[in-house]
Amino acid sequence: MAQELKRVRYALVGTGNRGTTMWGRELLAGWSEFVELVGICDLNLMRAERARSMIGSSAPLYEDFALMLEELKPALVIVCTPDDTHDDIIIRALESGADVISEKPMTTTPGKIERIREAEARTGRRVDVSFNYRFSPTAARIKELIEEGAIGDVTSVDFHWYLDNRHGADYFRRWHAYGAHSGSLFVHKATHHFDLLNWYLDSDPVEVKGFGQLVHYGRNGPFRGVRCKTCPHKGECDYYLDLAADPFLDALYEDPSALDGYHRDACVYREDIDIPDTMTAAIRYRSGVQVSYSLNTYMPIEGHHIAFNGHRGRIELRQYEKQPWTEPPADEIVLMKSFGGGVERIWVPHEAGGHYGGDNRMRDMIFKPGSNDRLRQRAGSRAGAMSVLCGLAALESSRTGGSATLPTLL
Ligand SMILES: NC(=O)c1ccc[n+]([C@@H]2O[C@H](COP(=O)([O-])OP(=O)(O)OC[C@H]3O[C@@H](n4cnc5c(N)ncnc54)[C@H](O)[C@@H]3O)[C@@H](O)[C@H]2O)c1
Repeated sequence: MAQELKRVRYALVGTGNRGTTMWGRELLAGWSEFVELVGICDLNLMRAERARSMIGSSAPLYEDFALMLEELKPALVIVCTPDDTHDDIIIRALESGADVISEKPMTTTPGKIERIREAEARTGRRVDVSFNYRFSPTAARIKELIEEGAIGDVTSVDFHWYLDNRHGADYFRRWHAYGAHSGSLFVHKATHHFDLLNWYLDSDPVEVKGFGQLVHYGRNGPFRGVRCKTCPHKGECDYYLDLAADPFLDALYEDPSALDGYHRDACVYREDIDIPDTMTAAIRYRSGVQVSYSLNTYMPIEGHHIAFNGHRGRIELRQYEKQPWTEPPADEIVLMKSFGGGVERIWVPHEAGGHYGGDNRMRDMIFKPGSNDRLRQRAGSRAGAMSVLCGLAALESSRTGGSATLPTLL
């Protein structure tokens, strides 16, 4: 008789959009053979209650994380709270004997990185960081091409990321708009991009020259209110958001905001926004590779352009996630070989689910026993730390005007 698989007893902390969908509803819908949700924690119990019903769970709710750990003793804790709160939660979970999956970015400061790494080593438990972009089918194909030596050794990379004026603006509506909570978008968002680079290149960044300016949102706005719902400028604002038009977000955030004042539709033109919305960085890797990177947050398109330049050719990709024209349901990687080697157009079909299938592939890798990690996609705390340090170096450089070297914490 086949032996029944022992399911991993996991607890979810942070029941915003990410926790409720990726690590709640979707995880239980597709991977309940491997996992069992035993507890749900959020400082806002009304949001937690709504999240629990959206997830379709009957797990107990907790406001007190330490009490949840003590009463339930989960084997795994999944951390989906704001970025600056990850460290304390991760460390307490490790100390209770649990493994951890932390949403990206793993954390926001070098000191917090050190504390997490120390706790992981001391407890012997494991921290995974959810770098789902590594798992998108197109990223995996590019990684294979680089490792096969399709263009010889890579010497430089051109990498430009564009957030559209819906998704980009979203970061300026909430806690992400303050460096103290998100480390700025050089950390919060670019952690994905710097991690992709570190993984593609299989090397560590050592020196960064960054530039960052707030030129579109925040104090640059022509007028401002407190939040869209009550704003006198609704009719004239390009960024007006009608939360009530999205029943999911409305249920998860609007009524629960009465408990904690967390408005999902805060004004993107708030005077106190203190992060750049337009960023560039030049990065030098230990391997000698040079990278030219940019991140823009108010574009008519969402997606990225990346090119790897090598001694024997170039790999180029333009991946659009949203754009005001129709794209085929596949990505086109253009492999150009130097010295008359020709051009190959490699089509990689999009798969179902978030990040063109990357979210599903990552959950498979983490939860399905016996998964083969031949491309080393599963990311731990070292990868989580390295991409954050790169972002912090870019931010520091943008403020001081000099270049910044990464601290040698690792
Ligand atoms: N990998 C990805 O592609 C991806 C996508 C979206 C978000 N994220 C990450 O997921 C995390 C959550 O994002 P979100 O958009 O759902 O945020 P959110 O602000 O919508 O939700 C965060 C929740 O955490 C709760 N919370 C805050 N501090 C807490 C604490 N100390 N203990 C318990 N609960 C606490 C809040 O009440 C809120 O309900 C962030 O780290 C974000 O970077 C990752």
